[in-house]
Amino acid sequence: MNLLSSARIENLLSQMTLDEKLAEMTQLSPLFFGAWSSIDLTGPLKEMDVSQREIKNLGSTLNYFGAKDTKALQDKHLADSRLKIPLLFMADVIHGYQTVFPIPLALGCSFNPENYRIASSTAAKESAASGIHLTFSPMVDLVRDPRWGRVMESTGEDSYLNSLMAAAAVKGFQGDNPAEKGRVASCVKHFAGYGASEGGRDYNWVELSENSLRQYYLPSYKSAVDAGCKMVMTSFNVIDGVPASANKKLFRDILRDEWGFKGATISDYAAIDETITNGLAENGSEAARLCIEAGVDIEMMSTHYIHHGKQLVESGKLSVEQIDSSVRNILQLKEDLGLFENPYKDASEEDEKKLFLCAEHRAAARKVARECAVLLKNDGTLPLKKNLKVGVAGPYAHSGNTNGGWSIAGDKDSLSLAETIKTHGVPVVTAMSQGLGSMQEGIMDCADEIDAAVNALRDCDVIIAAVGESPLDTGEAASKTSLRLSCNQEKMIFALAELKKPMIVICLSGRPLEIKPILHRANAFLQAWFLGSESPGAIADILFGDYNPCGRLSMSFPQTVGQIPVYYNGYHTGRPNNDPTNRFVSRYLDCPNEPLFPFGYGLSYSDVVYSDFKATVSGDEIQASITVTNNSDINTREAVQLYVRDLFASVVRPVKELKGIALTTLAPHEKRTVHFVIGKDMLRFHNNKLEFVFEPGEFEIMIGKNSAELTGARLHFE
Ligand code: GLC
Repeated sequence: MNLLSSARIENLLSQMTLDEKLAEMTQLSPLFFGAWSSIDLTGPLKEMDVSQREIKNLGSTLNYFGAKDTKALQDKHLADSRLKIPLLFMADVIHGYQTVFPIPLALGCSFNPENYRIASSTAAKESAASGIHLTFSPMVDLVRDPRWGRVMESTGEDSYLNSLMAAAAVKGFQGDNPAEKGRVASCVKHFAGYGASEGGRDYNWVELSENSLRQYYLPSYKSAVDAGCKMVMTSFNVIDGVPASANKKLFRDILRDEWGFKGATISDYAAIDETITNGLAENGSEAARLCIEAGVDIEMMSTHYIHHGKQLVESGKLSVEQIDSSVRNILQLKEDLGLFENPYKDASEEDEKKLFLCAEHRAAARKVARECAVLLKNDGTLPLKKNLKVGVAGPYAHSGNTNGGWSIAGDKDSLSLAETIKTHGVPVVTAMSQGLGSMQEGIMDCADEIDAAVNALRDCDVIIAAVGESPLDTGEAASKTSLRLSCNQEKMIFALAELKKPMIVICLSGRPLEIKPILHRANAFLQAWFLGSESPGAIADILFGDYNPCGRLSMSFPQTVGQIPVYYNGYHTGRPNNDPTNRFVSRYLDCPNEPLFPFGYGLSYSDVVYSDFKATVSGDEIQASITVTNNSDINTREAVQLYVRDLFASVVRPVKELKGIALTTLAPHEKRTVHFVIGKDMLRFHNNKLEFVFEPGEFEIMIGKNSAELTGARLHFE
């Protein structure tokens, strides 16, 4: 805060009535401002009983887009505002705006934070032109349970990778200063631990030890805070018995006192009201008191602050200083964004026309998308030659709906996968491509369609099964107990396999699916997530070898849903499953302990050989290196991965933890030695007193192409 802004803010605070302050702490949808008047304000929205007086003093709104509309709403708001405090426009711009980039889980699979920065920077330019000032992104919740539909919004199961990605996303959205043109403020979410929702069921409670919370779940939020994000959003979940929105330990002790966060905080959608449903607050007044005391500055889409705040202050249950502290944070955010000087910020219809899905943005989206797809199996069927007749079957053969969850806008007229393959001069036959309906369980009996598909593709040279999950089945409120492809899709794959043609399965999904039942039928399997506007082009680039796939899994693929949670950095247990003759060990009777595909796994068309591993203690550091050789005739990019295990410590430590990624490009037959330096800071952890410490002792240093294929050595380091 600079002196001028503090003078302005203090001056405003001194003039604001308590009602105006409480309205500033409230965010409601544009419906309340009379926008979308075609939608009747009924039901829960009507019951919020918000007066016009309160509406004209509201501090912010959400998910209202368009330069023209946001400027008009701002004009109306400022005309009504006694103190001319500008309205803040916030929105869920998660992985692109009009030009849609891969879902964050796919961005994580590129193992390249630069891709998240590019995606966020592009999204900032386009959404800022549409009048957005702040985005509710990045979502950095660590995830280990693909039953939870929101894994698509995360960059995966590892806190080191998630932390790199979180910082890159904040940098992309905000640049060096979010007030600059083409930048938006960033709000990290959901604080905290939402990805550990019990049973993978959305909005469920979270049972985490404080040690696990701090060791695995908090680092990515802290990385976003350290990168300068301007806001933090609460999570829906209860943690340690207290809903996050009322959790002082999270929002006062950790976020403000330990981490020194100075920005503003916001509840998730109606989460303050839900502290009543959760059984914490008895009523709206208690909900308001508990959440303001916990340090939640803005109440999103519920109205307990404006309905009870005044009475709480007058009765002495809250102080004006507590209210002022929150209002100051909100006004400071508006000041930091320059909204007092320019309440429209970057809203410009001309820029919208120039920027939306422009060639530069499409090219960036395609480049990023190619890095995010993960090749999980390939017997040499890929890359395809262009003299083949290609059959494409399945709901994603013709679907352009490849943006995935949280794609607020996006391109409606991109070419489908089948049409894109045709642009490569390849004859294409499609079948069973009637769209997403066929994905739903039991919606229809597809026996006739499957027979027709088999006949239609009978004389093709190669078959592509373009399958996956419906975009309706991924994202928020999309938890599932079965992760298999729909029975119709599995039956289609089995039927097509009877043609004895090479079959490539391309899977579009927002989470790791249970693909083991059909994997043996695939000659090649490409996990294509939801790659956004340029998805078909990026996939075709990989299919025809115009791009050598380099994606690596940021989240493990389970053998079966019964194995969940399964992730790479678990503990050794006292009875590791490493003796097949011993029954009494930690294992399942009906399934391996290992995932089907581990964290960090992915194939390329090139073969990279690792050799000559070295690790030595050198003073206060460990120097580790390995030589990688590209034994192929094509360029490749290898994500060389460094893992460490702390063998003995005051609390047990994971069998391995990712501590370094070296993105290494290699020309054909090029050999290169990759070096890592490991300092004590990298080896710190939360001990049995929750102190963040380095403990000298025995360490295993490992380097390899994924978390399961590693070369290593044991060292004493102190
Ligand atoms: C939703 C989501 C949150 C989003 C917010 C505003 O319920 O949990 O991620 O930013 O509401 O749309």
